[in-house]
Amino acid sequence: MSDGRAGHGSRPCWWKQGTYVIEADDAAELARAMQLEQLITRQMGGLFPERGGDLSAVQTILDIACGPGGWALAVAYAYPHVTVVGIDNSRAVVEYAQAQAWSRGLGNVEFVLMDALHPLDFPDDAFDLVNARFLMGMMPVSAWLPLLRECRRVTRPGGSIRLTEAELCLTTSPAFEQLSAWLARAFWRKGYSFSPDGRTLGITAVLGQLLRSAGWRNVAYRPFVVDFSTGAPAHTGGYQHFMVFWRLVQEFVCAWAEVPTETFERCYQQAMAELLLDEFCGLWFHLLTWAENAPA
Ligand SMILES: C[S@@+](CC[C@H](N)C(=O)[O-])C[C@H]1O[C@@H](n2cnc3c(N)ncnc32)[C@H](O)[C@@H]1O
Repeated sequence: MSDGRAGHGSRPCWWKQGTYVIEADDAAELARAMQLEQLITRQMGGLFPERGGDLSAVQTILDIACGPGGWALAVAYAYPHVTVVGIDNSRAVVEYAQAQAWSRGLGNVEFVLMDALHPLDFPDDAFDLVNARFLMGMMPVSAWLPLLRECRRVTRPGGSIRLTEAELCLTTSPAFEQLSAWLARAFWRKGYSFSPDGRTLGITAVLGQLLRSAGWRNVAYRPFVVDFSTGAPAHTGGYQHFMVFWRLVQEFVCAWAEVPTETFERCYQQAMAELLLDEFCGLWFHLLTWAENAPA
């Protein structure tokens, strides 16, 4: 990498300190993740649409790379009989999430500092359900299989896993499409993309295959979409999310897709203006995938 990093001087590159492409404990990232939680859960059709919201057979849940804890907190509140454990490898993020639990008076959720890219510090069969959402931004391609195997080890026989990942948006904004193309290229060059040519993220295409390869059975899918077109209920939420998201990934995209900062900046300003046009249309695609720890 050369020109894309021009201007960073001798400051250490934060993305070399971990594998996540965004600075996890940036206040804007914490706020973005908490806001996104509500948007995604609404569009997905609730916390557990794949089981009609029924968690009667579930007592213990592990949430991998839980971030500020939006999902784990919502589950703990909605299902008081369940114990939720969220793990994250950022101390500041874990402390933030734990403070949220205390301030909400939730005694059935706890947040633990742990690296999901190493063997998990839990015994075999410890959980009924493992959840992981939006892992792509921290996962080298080669890390998926070991993590999914490790998730199976800590899930009891008959338990399950659920993964939620997103693809690029489809929009009518030329500038938004350009930002997306750079993001896809950056992920591809960094070795996080399953796309054959770096034009998409490719993660949703491979989730089922990865789960089966890790020994999970009975893979099932539920696709869902966030419509953030002008006039749609999620327009404001989508606008707010991407206004912050593109800023947070700017340094990563400029470095790995080799985009000059000024070029990115112009495109960002243009995209945000195009999102506000009356005729703007945008869909953001997601896939919920789940599977069972069942005998072969
Ligand atoms: C990868 S995303 C996960 C988003 C979260 N699941 C959600 O739905 O909001 C960002 C989080 O992953 C955490 N993270 C990154 N690498 C990690 C790792 N190796 N182990 C555990 N957590 C990690 C970051 O600290 C950050 O809080």
